[in-house]
Amino acid sequence: MRVLIVDDERHIRDSFKKYLGLEHIDAEGAETGEAALEALEREPFDAVVLDLKLPGISGQEVLDRMLRRGLSPPVIMISAHGQIADAVAALKAGARDYLVKPFDPAELVIKLRGLVEDKRRENLVEAGKRTGAGETALIGETEVMRALSAQIDKIAGSNVTVLISGESGTGKEVAAREIHRRSPLAAEPFVAVNIGGIHEGLMESELFGHEKGAFTGAMARKPGLFELAGRGCLFLDEIGEMPLSLQVKLLRVLQERKIRRLGGTGDIPVNARIISATNRDVEALVREGRFREDLYYRLNVFRLTLPPLRERSADIPLLARNLLGKLATRMGKPPHTLGAGAEEKLSSYSFPGNVRELENVLERALIFCEGNEIRGQDIDLHRETPSAAPPLSPKTGTADPPQSLEKLEKEAIIAALARSGGNRTRAAEELGVSRKTILNKIKAYGVGRNR
Ligand SMILES: Nc1ncnc2c1ncn2[C@@H]1O[C@H](COP(=O)(O)OP(=O)(O)OP(=O)(O)O)[C@@H](O)[C@H]1O
Ligand SMILES: [Mg+2]
Repeated sequence: MRVLIVDDERHIRDSFKKYLGLEHIDAEGAETGEAALEALEREPFDAVVLDLKLPGISGQEVLDRMLRRGLSPPVIMISAHGQIADAVAALKAGARDYLVKPFDPAELVIKLRGLVEDKRRENLVEAGKRTGAGETALIGETEVMRALSAQIDKIAGSNVTVLISGESGTGKEVAAREIHRRSPLAAEPFVAVNIGGIHEGLMESELFGHEKGAFTGAMARKPGLFELAGRGCLFLDEIGEMPLSLQVKLLRVLQERKIRRLGGTGDIPVNARIISATNRDVEALVREGRFREDLYYRLNVFRLTLPPLRERSADIPLLARNLLGKLATRMGKPPHTLGAGAEEKLSSYSFPGNVRELENVLERALIFCEGNEIRGQDIDLHRETPSAAPPLSPKTGTADPPQSLEKLEKEAIIAALARSGGNRTRAAEELGVSRKTILNKIKAYGVGRNR
């Protein structure tokens, strides 16, 4: 983020620059309105902090000229105590916000971050339009993610077979969809199938289809997923879970580029691009004889590797803001901002569960948070790792199948109430929420009545 500070007093410019620098915000100073306009014509800024009272042309006049010249960075007007009426007039004339001197620089930082957030949301809406409803673009601005995006651009244009690997929750499916979305055949179907989730006995008919009466229960003809994908893309997720018997069949399909439905006689050509993904070490599976080497070579024509989130932690704030927007909409909540404390806490955590874990952490934060800002205390880490002791409930950290968030929350509240002997204030303190929040939750979940 880059900010232009327009103030005729040098020590004010310098102290803001220094303060913003500590917050990782780049600032440049301009002594007069004329100098500010010159700087704005010369290079892009994300925001302008503009003193109303300047020698030469006034702050108000700078704002007017900016608007006339189509210089669009948002403006925060700074006014002295006696000029509040002027500041309000500036708001009407197009400034985004104002501050009255003397003010706490932390307040300026909050306002600046808010502006960036607004901008990002505007950009997202556009990206959302491009990606179509419900789809997530692959977000990331770190070196590794830019390189990955460049690779995707390279392969999107061809029909090359891609194998995506990476730890759980790193965005393998997002990447697969992105390849398809950027391809010239984006309007064709994208068919995703989770190999790990299909019963072995049904996998063949699922992938290749069957004719009526091909086996007991085959009441009608059913096209397979290869057929449904047409000229589009077939995404074989968790390919490492495919049983060896089916691996042979898949290999044959990839070699011959045609399928035959179970019980069928005619061949159907396979035109879809095949993208597979796994969070396993496929090379190790091959060495151990659990994955066929010849199939491995067929699938691994182009390899895309999603780095773990801890190797791109600089992307965490960006990802977090995007996920917050997505989650708030999904949960029917108003937009929330990410406070500095929360950002810091997230940025320094290792996220063994990667982006998915980040998403879960934010979802919990949205439930517990009061107001429209996620604060450091709303962020509860270390609840996903089975090895770490869960701070809230002895039940939640086990390797049990994933439970619903509501259930976890309810259990946490019950456990805290039990520990506090039914004292709601103390339970609230332990959970790091207000008494009001816990009372609402107790009511909503119908727990803790018999104290
Ligand atoms: N770069 C990203 N930008 C935006 N959202 C992302 C990104 N990476 C992951 N996500 C989000 O994180 C979640 C997990 O992503 P995804 O399902 O693609 O991961 P995965 O690698 O397939 O995980 P698994 O191995 O557990 O299936 C999704 O909700 C996805 O939208
Ligand atoms: Mg996945």
